[in-house]
Amino acid sequence: MEENILEEASQEAESAENSRALYEVKMKYLGRTGKISLLLKKMKEIAQEERPAFGKKINDLREKLEAHFEKLEEKIKQKELEHKLKNERIDVTMPGKRKKEGVLHPVTRVKNELIDVFAGMGFEIYEGPEIESEYYNFTALNTPADHPARDMQDTFYVTDEFLLRTQTSAAQIRVMEKKKPPIKILSPGRVFRSDDDATHSPMFHQMEGLVVDKNITLCDLQGMLDEFARSVFSDSSKTRLRPSYFPFTEPSVEVDVSCASCGGKGCSLCKGTGWIEVLGAGMVNRRVLENCGVDPDEYSGFAFGMGVERIAMLKYGINNIKLLTENDVRFLEQFKD
Ligand code: DAH
Repeated sequence: MEENILEEASQEAESAENSRALYEVKMKYLGRTGKISLLLKKMKEIAQEERPAFGKKINDLREKLEAHFEKLEEKIKQKELEHKLKNERIDVTMPGKRKKEGVLHPVTRVKNELIDVFAGMGFEIYEGPEIESEYYNFTALNTPADHPARDMQDTFYVTDEFLLRTQTSAAQIRVMEKKKPPIKILSPGRVFRSDDDATHSPMFHQMEGLVVDKNITLCDLQGMLDEFARSVFSDSSKTRLRPSYFPFTEPSVEVDVSCASCGGKGCSLCKGTGWIEVLGAGMVNRRVLENCGVDPDEYSGFAFGMGVERIAMLKYGINNIKLLTENDVRFLEQFKD
């Protein structure tokens, strides 16, 4: 009978296809309610003197079975491991899946670049509110209610008194009200105008600069602008000041940068002039200083304001401002480093 059990168990174990099945066979024979345990229970029915021999037989059988199962388990585990290694093999030579990487929007890039350039010259950043009062956006900037300059820009009014700021120049007033000279700030931000064509958008970004201290002159302004042009456009860029008019500066200038595309010789980008207008600037009007409690006999200052989209368009040869707000991925992904 014992031989039978051994044979039967070996056969069943051999045909087990995986370690789970083998375990079940093992339990059938060696488990707590398995065949060996059942045999041991029969001990009671056996004559006293035959018991030791019987017990030894069963124990031998159990040992044989255990050894047998152990061997088979080893074999099956090895087989399963080989199978796993074969099936889960990774081909490290396969090309990987590329993740689509986002890039900074060109306006953000230019904005960051401008901030870097001016921060390098010692400018601090100040951000003013987008909803402004008429006072900060116009009145304090020497543009009273009946001033014709208010017609220079069509404004989105929120209420009679509040509006979406049309220029970051409003930040000049907020800074001078709070801080005594020396002042050297850069104020980036969104501005809003009721304007819409290939080069104008109802919302765009400006970067305002303000420097107030003793003995500030137009030369300081031009020196700083030269540095700006060289850093942002090209090492050989030059600037040119043309007389202009803004209510908050006197004198006021319009600043041109030599055309980086033709080096100043004249091309379609600069319309044959060799120069491209990039910003407005000037010496802060005495009235504006007075409005903020700064003594114009003691202090003077210069200010400038530029359109970030305009700089981005010039730098990257973008011909329609709408491309900067439509966010077409095919356009944006061209601005990889
Ligand atoms: N605020 C002007 C505009 O939006 C730009 C400007 C011109 C800013 C001259 C200035 C400045 O600070 O001095 O058109």
